[in-house]
Amino acid sequence: MKVAIIGAGAMGGAIARGLISSAPRFITSPGDLCAANPSPRRLAPLAEAGASTTCSNIEAVRDASLVILCVKPWLVKDVITEIKDHIDYSYAEIAVVAACVTISDLNEWLHKESAGSRSPSFCIVMPNTAVSLCKSMTFQVNGNGTCPLTLKAFGQLGEVMVIEERLLPAATSIASCGIAYALRYIRAAMEGSVELGIRAPLAQEMIVQTLIGAASLLQEPGTHPETEIDKVTTPGGLTIRGLNAMEHSGFTSAVINGLKASTPR
Ligand SMILES: NC(=O)c1ccc[n+]([C@@H]2O[C@H](COP(=O)([O-])OP(=O)(O)OC[C@H]3O[C@@H](n4cnc5c(N)ncnc54)[C@H](OP(=O)(O)O)[C@@H]3O)[C@@H](O)[C@H]2O)c1
Repeated sequence: MKVAIIGAGAMGGAIARGLISSAPRFITSPGDLCAANPSPRRLAPLAEAGASTTCSNIEAVRDASLVILCVKPWLVKDVITEIKDHIDYSYAEIAVVAACVTISDLNEWLHKESAGSRSPSFCIVMPNTAVSLCKSMTFQVNGNGTCPLTLKAFGQLGEVMVIEERLLPAATSIASCGIAYALRYIRAAMEGSVELGIRAPLAQEMIVQTLIGAASLLQEPGTHPETEIDKVTTPGGLTIRGLNAMEHSGFTSAVINGLKASTPR
């Protein structure tokens, strides 16, 4: 099976590296992956890792069973127009990694006379930057068919949730923008730690492990943040004083406002 990645920038490059490192679980060997990009500098590290590379999008998609499009949103239509006649709609699946494109847009752009009324299997995929460590929270919105190859490919790169298109803007805010929000909490906690006399690198180590612990507690079945918070808040104790001080400064409201601000209506 051949996988084509069109656009080997930040996201396309990370997806390619993740699929290569997970071989033979999805692709059998790195050479099953072909990455296309206009500038060869983006391709050099992937070629070094054993992928096949090209500056021609058409060459990359030929015979591909899965085409993953990773170009900027405003280029998606032009790239689809360029490649669609070279994709075999009878078996190929197309996954579009781009913000602000809709299933209806893709349905229209992917239509081609030579395929008659046949539509290809296609979907929108929204990973986050943790895809580079195979720890992405990825959302998949199916346009036509269930897109099992996409599900399996991105399943190698973290968790995948298949959701309805109407939920995608909020999901993107929670998980893609959410990476920045979580990091901003870490930075804030580091600044507080420095004021308390702990050097920044040591504080970072402490805070990251604390967050890994908190997230792991919530991965246990039947858990809820408030139940875990209750376990560390002794009446009259220090933790509840800290939590209430944060709430008086608007912690929960700030998070809710941030999520709403980054969700286009
Ligand atoms: N970064 C994220 O956190 C994130 C998260 C979720 C989704 N996304 C989506 O991922 C997509 C790609 O974003 P990115 O951050 O990876 O951008 P990027 O780093 O700029 O990568 C885009 C790549 O596309 C290449 N390209 C430009 N024109 C092309 C063409 N005609 N054919 C093939 N490749 C072409 C660029 O090559 P040159 O550099 O040579 O021009 C570049 O390597 C976007 O649609 C974005 O919405 C990104």
